[in-house]
Amino acid sequence: MNTSTYRPHINGARPHFPCRVLLLLLVFVFAGGAQAQGPKATIRFNSTTRVFRIDTPRTSYIMGINEANEVQNLYWGGRLPDSDQFAAAKSMPGAASFDPPMTTTPVEYAGWGGMLYVEPSLKVSFPDGNRDLVLQYVSHKIDGDQLSIVMKDISREVYVTLYYRPDGETGILRRSAEVENRTDTAITIEQVSAATWNLPRGTDYRLRYLTGRWAGEWTVQEQPVHPGKTVLESRRGTTGAQNNPWFAIDYEGENDSERGGVWFGGLGWSGSWQISVEQDMLQQVRVNGGPNSFDFAYHLPKGGKFGTPAFCAGYSDQGIGGASRLLHRYEIDTLLPGAPKPKLRPVLYNSWEATGFDVNEVGQMALAEKAASIGIERFVMDDGWFGQRKDDRAGLGDWYVNSQKFPHGLKPLIEKVHSLGMDFGLWVEPEMVNPDSDLYHKHPDWVLNFTGRPRTEGRNQLVLNLARPDVRAYVYEFLDKLLTENDIAFLKWDYNRNWSEPGWPAAPLDEQKDVYVDFIHNLYGILAELKAKHPNVEIESCSGGGSRVDLGIMHLTDEVWPSDNTDAYDRLSIQNGFTYAYAPGVMMAWVTDSPSWANQRSLSLEYRFLSSMQGSLGIGSNLNKWSSEDFATAKKMIGQYKTVRETVQRGELYRLITPEHGSEQSVTESVARDGHEAVVFAFLHSSNELYPYPRVHLEGLDRNANYRIEVLDGRVSGETPSRASGAYWMDRGIDLDLQGDFRAMAFRVERVNANQ
Ligand code: DGJ
Repeated sequence: MNTSTYRPHINGARPHFPCRVLLLLLVFVFAGGAQAQGPKATIRFNSTTRVFRIDTPRTSYIMGINEANEVQNLYWGGRLPDSDQFAAAKSMPGAASFDPPMTTTPVEYAGWGGMLYVEPSLKVSFPDGNRDLVLQYVSHKIDGDQLSIVMKDISREVYVTLYYRPDGETGILRRSAEVENRTDTAITIEQVSAATWNLPRGTDYRLRYLTGRWAGEWTVQEQPVHPGKTVLESRRGTTGAQNNPWFAIDYEGENDSERGGVWFGGLGWSGSWQISVEQDMLQQVRVNGGPNSFDFAYHLPKGGKFGTPAFCAGYSDQGIGGASRLLHRYEIDTLLPGAPKPKLRPVLYNSWEATGFDVNEVGQMALAEKAASIGIERFVMDDGWFGQRKDDRAGLGDWYVNSQKFPHGLKPLIEKVHSLGMDFGLWVEPEMVNPDSDLYHKHPDWVLNFTGRPRTEGRNQLVLNLARPDVRAYVYEFLDKLLTENDIAFLKWDYNRNWSEPGWPAAPLDEQKDVYVDFIHNLYGILAELKAKHPNVEIESCSGGGSRVDLGIMHLTDEVWPSDNTDAYDRLSIQNGFTYAYAPGVMMAWVTDSPSWANQRSLSLEYRFLSSMQGSLGIGSNLNKWSSEDFATAKKMIGQYKTVRETVQRGELYRLITPEHGSEQSVTESVARDGHEAVVFAFLHSSNELYPYPRVHLEGLDRNANYRIEVLDGRVSGETPSRASGAYWMDRGIDLDLQGDFRAMAFRVERVNANQ
């Protein structure tokens, strides 16, 4: 993605077309990152039957152009042999006069028009009052690993290009669409999907999705797919923790966590979004996803193009476990900055839970010394270093160093951190402003607002309207200056409230709702420009925890903060839900103080470490209160983490026992990509009625290879052999010596040669 050619106009109104159109094209559709080396996908078109086949080693996706010139889905699932030929597509029969073929046929992308009653992929209105849009196939192009299909309305010059890019390694298909207005006037897009996914017709479907709230994010929900529509969404201007833009659908009766077919996907959009799952009158299931149509309108000028975000989806025949492993692999190999080899996450220290806003040069330096002594690699200063920031009531927007707290600027602290062998990171919240700030006093019109209406505050702050070119320029420039003048390796990019009063009074009336789109692609544009100019700077997407995690932001940030709740027991379920959709390697997990602020629960330091070691390890404790024993334990466990982090962060995750449905246990296993080791973390809430801990059966090992066991922390039962075959560890399993309340242990098995 390259946005560096774009220079916004410095005022509150919109830049004029064609500048804007260029911006849309450059920023809006994420480019999909690196193309991993690996098995190839093939895309073929049979001109006789007019059938498209997209095959990967794991999957087949088949579409045809039917007699109504609609692009119709014919199959999506496991790989079919080439010898299986598909006849020309034929529309579904209608169901009486009420549900004609137009509504029953599983098309790839439906305009709202005619007798379409299912969720449309695109709805537009024309200035003459027409709101009817019927899309038909025009042409297609196969260009390397990308298929594009052009469609057009039956009479108006509105074109839609559908893009399909399969990933050979995972079978995940990245889809997006581009709407082009070749009419003589502007049109308004009222609803637009990145893609419509059609599942095979069936009844016994189960939907999984993720819900949450602040400090209670990432709960896995399961429900049968019923006739009608279920809508997952955010109307908050941002991704939100209440729903996450991810879904998985399988057959309820047949599957377990490692077996059976699962269709799954994630939407790459960090603004208001929606994914609808709809079972129609013929028991066909469609999944539609894109920017939320609630309060939505996008003004597309004559000649303008609108690129949707990407919606990536795949199929696994290895249950929900296999589905999440495919997504993790896709994220690591193609999506994350630095893909296919994104950098491993360093072990970081952050004093937020220890000091709150009370940061200063002396205090941070003292903590940095202590952090360095236990093997920390990155020292991050959190909120409170800038403007007149003493608490959350003032200072946001004024990005100068607070001279009482840092009389010599940031440089002495940064140099000290470097001299201790760590790199330096800094907290920012660029899209926000406190009314009590110089910035707001100077530019009260820079926030989202409706003229003459209240400006609702959340955490005493307002949302800057990043859609405005002048706000975009301000945000980019202060961040660029900060990174240019200081040796900063990492930004923790926070975002601590959702939108209210999403008005943009400076824009022309018919363009004011474009804020839903322009805000987000300006955010993406800033991130992309910063990454291009400061390629070594890493960024964390932190939004109070879990509120801005999606495949769109993941393309531009190196890690995310899943929750402000750092209670190590609560984290087991939070992290469990997170990994259904996102790779453990991007999931920051801090060890913090006990009892935890969240539940006043006391947990041993070892338990807290083992919980956090399942993701990217950080320390957030008040090191000033640690005993020498705590330092020794932390140093040992950070050392252990470094030896297994590549496997944890980049490996294949198996949820051996999930902490769902009130389970007393939780066990995860990460298998190295090259299979040389597997790392297991096991947790017990409470022993009951003398029951032993369930026997743990490993997964993903080579049955015929030998593995040596090494206990990292805790105990296995006395009968455990020191080495055994993969078959033994998987089939016979291993007994763990875990009894009591809030106990944890970890071990790894390492492949050895027969004579080792
Ligand atoms: C919310 C974040 O999630 C916390 O980690 C911390 O950075 C605070 N904001 C700072 O205001």
